[in-house]
Amino acid sequence: MLPTFRWTTFDLNNWLPPGWQQDVAAAAEAADVRAFPRTPVISRESQEVQEIARGRVHADQVSHHLPWLVKAYRNELLELASEVSSEPVRAAEDDRYGVVLNVQRGAGMRFECHVDSNPLTGLLFCTDHAAGGELVIANDHEARGVAEVDRNCSVIRPHAGHLIFFDARQYPHYARVLTAESETRIVAVMNFYTKSCPESTRPRELNKHLYGDN
Ligand SMILES: [Fe+2]
Repeated sequence: MLPTFRWTTFDLNNWLPPGWQQDVAAAAEAADVRAFPRTPVISRESQEVQEIARGRVHADQVSHHLPWLVKAYRNELLELASEVSSEPVRAAEDDRYGVVLNVQRGAGMRFECHVDSNPLTGLLFCTDHAAGGELVIANDHEARGVAEVDRNCSVIRPHAGHLIFFDARQYPHYARVLTAESETRIVAVMNFYTKSCPESTRPRELNKHLYGDN
């Protein structure tokens, strides 16, 4: 099968504010770390997996600890997102899922295998890893669970300061476990929307599951 998934990388190392990595690491201390139940609608875990241990710094905490990141999301990073999209791009209006941090500590956590509901995702990698912690994206739209994703995939190794953009609405993806107990993986996840797939299309079940919306 010819792979069709693609992504665009921007190296922001010379643009990000001095001390940004330490800032992010400090914010990650506040992560909500636990076993999260599989997410409705967008999960692509295999049937037997009901929960996945990971950490999340919620959007309100990101606003509090990393105001420069939220400002960048709504301005300069939105500009870059617009460069890679063929149609107008908007940041999320709902502050609960604009920018969050995903955090993995040690060798027992990974990020859930899922598809995205938003048409454009930006990931700012905040840590480097020689091995482990890769973002793995299936070329097969029907892949379920990490074993099926791994069978035919693109693998992106995190590089601190690299911002990548992609559309993974059709491509199941997950983040691999780290190889050492001493390591922490942090990535800032940004949701963007487009004219043809606006924020109003976000599944209501997702907000109900994540935030208790009715
Ligand atoms: Fe995703």
